[in-house]
Amino acid sequence: MGIGKALAEECARRGMNLLLVALPGKELDELSATLRQRYQVEVHALGLDMLEKTASGQVYQWCVDRDFSVDKLINNIGVGGRSDFETCRVTDLEAMLTLNVQIATVLTQLFVELLKKQRRSYILNVGSAAGFFHIPHKAVYSATKAYLYSLTRSLRSELKPLGIHVALLAPGGAHNRQDPVVHRKVNGWLHRNIHHSTEHIARTALNGLLKGKRVIVPGTLPKIYIGLSGVFPPSWVDVVVDRLFKNTR
Ligand SMILES: NC(=O)c1ccc[n+]([C@@H]2O[C@H](COP(=O)([O-])OP(=O)(O)OC[C@H]3O[C@@H](n4cnc5c(N)ncnc54)[C@H](OP(=O)(O)O)[C@@H]3O)[C@@H](O)[C@H]2O)c1
Repeated sequence: MGIGKALAEECARRGMNLLLVALPGKELDELSATLRQRYQVEVHALGLDMLEKTASGQVYQWCVDRDFSVDKLINNIGVGGRSDFETCRVTDLEAMLTLNVQIATVLTQLFVELLKKQRRSYILNVGSAAGFFHIPHKAVYSATKAYLYSLTRSLRSELKPLGIHVALLAPGGAHNRQDPVVHRKVNGWLHRNIHHSTEHIARTALNGLLKGKRVIVPGTLPKIYIGLSGVFPPSWVDVVVDRLFKNTR
């Protein structure tokens, strides 16, 4: 199960009604039906390829046309993976920039209008621990997540007077996707403590969001290494990250 699905389930478990957006298909319909039945909440789903040019506007219009009141926006959508910058396809780079950066930015801008109608509302941007580092073979991914971190911090202050609380979720790693090179180099205790179940990540995310946290990092070890990355000289941090992520043993 991905983090998006786990977040949807955690929200439903807490009795929240849901507006789900994902690629069209059986999986989205089945998830909606399951959550509706299991948790007795309202679930509305919009199947949409967010790479379509007008996608963010369509999501916003869908909510306006149906008069949905929205008190939380979760920007989970994002693609990752490992690739060599020199040889990766330009279309893949463009898709990553669109999904990881543009969609979260534009949706947030559009939804401020709806969120500010609530007494208190929330935006959760799903970043990554990768956003705190500079990672070879994940250069664009880590840069997109650093962008989300920066955007979150700035908007947290700017949108506060509107009663909108903005937070970043920065998971170290989830069980559903693991980097093959890191997986080869790190095992045992370290591996278990870097990666967490998506259910754990979703539970921690919702707890942190509702408590008003700024950056939510599930797990003790990711908290420690993100914290240390701000303490040690950048050149030291880069050496460790290089060793972990470079295509060598
Ligand atoms: N997994 C990790 O280890 C990890 C670690 C740190 C951060 N993150 C971040 O957490 C977020 C979720 O990651 P995940 O790996 O767990 O993935 P996920 O939630 O399983 O999948 C991403 C979501 O994006 C949707 N999506 C992808 N492309 C789309 C498109 N073109 N149009 C519409 N929807 C699209 C997917 O819809 P469908 O379900 O329809 O495919 C899915 O709901 C991402 O932002 C990721 O960068 C993940």
